[in-house]
Amino acid sequence: MKSAEIRRQFLEFFASKGHQIVSSSSLVPGDDPTLLFTNAGMNQFKDVFLGFDKRPYTRATTAQKCVRAGGKHNDLENVGYTARHHTFFEMLGNFSFGDYFKHDAISFAWELLTQVYKLPSEKLWVTVYADDDEAYDIWTREIGVPAERVIRIGDNKGARYASDNFWMMGDTGPCGPCSEIFYDHGEGIWGGPPGSPDEDGDRYIEIWNNVFMQFNRDEAGVMHKLPRPSVDTGMGLERISAVLQHVHSNYEIDLFQNLIRAAARETSAADMDSPSLKVLADHIRACSFLVADGVIPGNAGRGYVLRRIIRRAIRHGYKLGARAAFFYKLVPDLVAEMGEAYPDLAKAQDKVVAVLREEEEGFFRTIQNGMEILETALAALKASGATVLDGELAFKLHDTYGFPLDLTADVCRERDYTVDAAGFDAAMARQREQARAAGKFKMAAALEYDGEPTTFHGYEKLIVEGAKVTAVYVDGVAVDVAKPGQDAVVVLDDTPFYAESGGQVGDAGVLQNGTTRFLVEDTQKIQADVFGHHGQLVEGEIRIGDTFTARVDGARRAATARNHSATHLLHKALREVLGAHVQQKGSQVDSGKTRFDFAHNAPLSDEDIRRVEAIVIREVLANAATLTRVLPIEEAQKTGAMMLFGEKYGDDVRVVEIGSTREFCGGTHVARTGDIGFIKIVAQSGVAAGIRRIEAVTGEAALALIQQQEALLGELAATLKLPAGEAVARVAQMQEQIKAADKEIAALKSQLVLSQLDELVKSGSRTINGVKVVAVSLDKVEGAALREVSDKIRDQLGEGVVLAASVNDGKVALVAMVSKALTGKVKAGEIVSLAAGIVGGKGGGRPDMAQAGGTLPEKLPEAIAAALKLLEEKL
Ligand code: ALA
Repeated sequence: MKSAEIRRQFLEFFASKGHQIVSSSSLVPGDDPTLLFTNAGMNQFKDVFLGFDKRPYTRATTAQKCVRAGGKHNDLENVGYTARHHTFFEMLGNFSFGDYFKHDAISFAWELLTQVYKLPSEKLWVTVYADDDEAYDIWTREIGVPAERVIRIGDNKGARYASDNFWMMGDTGPCGPCSEIFYDHGEGIWGGPPGSPDEDGDRYIEIWNNVFMQFNRDEAGVMHKLPRPSVDTGMGLERISAVLQHVHSNYEIDLFQNLIRAAARETSAADMDSPSLKVLADHIRACSFLVADGVIPGNAGRGYVLRRIIRRAIRHGYKLGARAAFFYKLVPDLVAEMGEAYPDLAKAQDKVVAVLREEEEGFFRTIQNGMEILETALAALKASGATVLDGELAFKLHDTYGFPLDLTADVCRERDYTVDAAGFDAAMARQREQARAAGKFKMAAALEYDGEPTTFHGYEKLIVEGAKVTAVYVDGVAVDVAKPGQDAVVVLDDTPFYAESGGQVGDAGVLQNGTTRFLVEDTQKIQADVFGHHGQLVEGEIRIGDTFTARVDGARRAATARNHSATHLLHKALREVLGAHVQQKGSQVDSGKTRFDFAHNAPLSDEDIRRVEAIVIREVLANAATLTRVLPIEEAQKTGAMMLFGEKYGDDVRVVEIGSTREFCGGTHVARTGDIGFIKIVAQSGVAAGIRRIEAVTGEAALALIQQQEALLGELAATLKLPAGEAVARVAQMQEQIKAADKEIAALKSQLVLSQLDELVKSGSRTINGVKVVAVSLDKVEGAALREVSDKIRDQLGEGVVLAASVNDGKVALVAMVSKALTGKVKAGEIVSLAAGIVGGKGGGRPDMAQAGGTLPEKLPEAIAAALKLLEEKL
């Protein structure tokens, strides 16, 4: 049975049991700072399990794309070397949100496996959590699985709840005991049943995990009961396909065969069993789906993990023989295989190709250098008989040559070496601070809270009277009272403060009552509906239950609103000017400016920018009133409002119309477009392949910008003593004059040097093994002039060797000349290469004349000394 058929039958089976078929969510989890990538089917339902979010259904089923690389569940290093590890895989799952529990979950699973997929029941084994008598009884008494095939597994990983049969999404979040179903591949394969000493063998393979969600684990590891017990299951499509297609390794199933062949085609690999082909077949899936979901290779967070996967793929391609970009050529093969099941992938094909190609071409340029260094180090290890590669070197490869540790480890593993991981970590620690600052996954939101949600009033008003404190935190922990002077986070039952989301910064302002004043510097969500007011207590104390007048800084909010509304107008104007491919990729709006990232390949011309500005200004001048509606998502979609790709939307969404734009948006906006006042685009740049960034200012900030530019121009005109309109022409004229003057100075300088030639030759000349040699070092003589000087010296010398050097603007220029008769002994190129190597440069030329440049003037004396030594040896 084909994988596509297995996927379809799974979903249809659960649909027939009253489950809503829900599409796979993006690999980039919406609004969940605790999670790097979607790594299980339940991720998109996390808030539903926790009771924060409600859906119109209580039973759901999905085929979910997952990536397990770089997070809690990280399989990257194993991929290629085992039969069943993947970075990307599809998880089939069924979910109950407080509807059915263990009994139905187990019966459904059994019915699907034995009656739809028709697996022989005697091949199936089951595990349950050690003290889960209920699940044990359902399996043995109701389903009738013989007791010897139902195994209890306790906390086998060294801590309470640390068990193969207790599933957790991450360090925090919903979790519970689970029951796993195993398939016995038969006696021909080595391995023992789960829980036995030989369980790591390949004979008994877990195919399906049924989690009985009962708890929410908090930061401190404390388990809180979920509002209603629920079910979360996950079956790897690749594994069940292997079983149903009677193959042992996941890589032998239909989904992978074409990809492996494509990888062999593009790398000209001869050995079809090479693990590297499996790596490529796996990694092209992960990389393409990640890019399609909006991840771009980068140096931090998700982008960095993607970069590591791409680089690992390239390294394996390199090993197979590829010497130029090849990986991106697998994208069409993947789309042919999976585009039907995942139309978003098919739609993004061109972008995926472009992004992978650019990343790959860059990496190919560096991989050669890195490989050489690593090869040299490994050869040295071999010579010394050691087996551990120095951690510092591994770090240098990582840091300077873009060689991630797992690549280095991969190469080492193939040759039976290991890497000193502790040494690597130590070197890494030096950079950790920096990485932390750049990293996005800080757990700012991870404050423990189980009180009432916050009601947000900030769309209608900026002041709320009588707002009651429901929690106070100091240094990340809940406290009863915050003291004067302390930095604290305060949660209120009602607030006018907007909490950062959708690219708009959180509000600032003040909480005040008769005795206390708390300056709010920022507002951030602790949970979806719980707002934390971050700031400093300047007067009095704050206790739970206290009430305050909460007042938002209105000027800051108004400036932010102008920028946010302008962002919507810019988005639409960019689409009008550049085309409908322009899609928002990120934004950051605060009171100072708006920064907007969007899909587009080339820089905007000045004319493009002027047109975009003109379109926005027209909307501003039309002064249309903003219209906001909250609609059920289906209805909102029908309005044609712009949805952001990869965002998570609830059942009800807010649709905001500003001028002629209509977007899903939770932000705060101007009342009329005219409130924006004025807009000016101030910068544009490229942030990644296929992604441009523009920055713009509005209102008073735009006025300030123009006044500043006008002042600058005024100053320039005053300095030139000309009207502003003539300044540009005058500056151009001055540049011409400077160029001509520079030329003249250079000519004069070389004349000056030539006039002192005799003296120079005298001071710099010596005889080496009977040959006349002149080595001179000059100041501020350009390359061409230096050559002229050298020519003259050689003419004076007749037979001999000339080495002339000069430092100009912090750069070194070198010229060597060897008279023809002597080139049999030493060549000008040799002299120059040696010297250039020391001053940090490169060079070459003919046997009788060669020149070079360098960047380390302080090393010039050393370079000249080395050249003279060479002449002593050769002449
Ligand atoms: N969420 C469970 C898992 O990933 C089903 O194994």
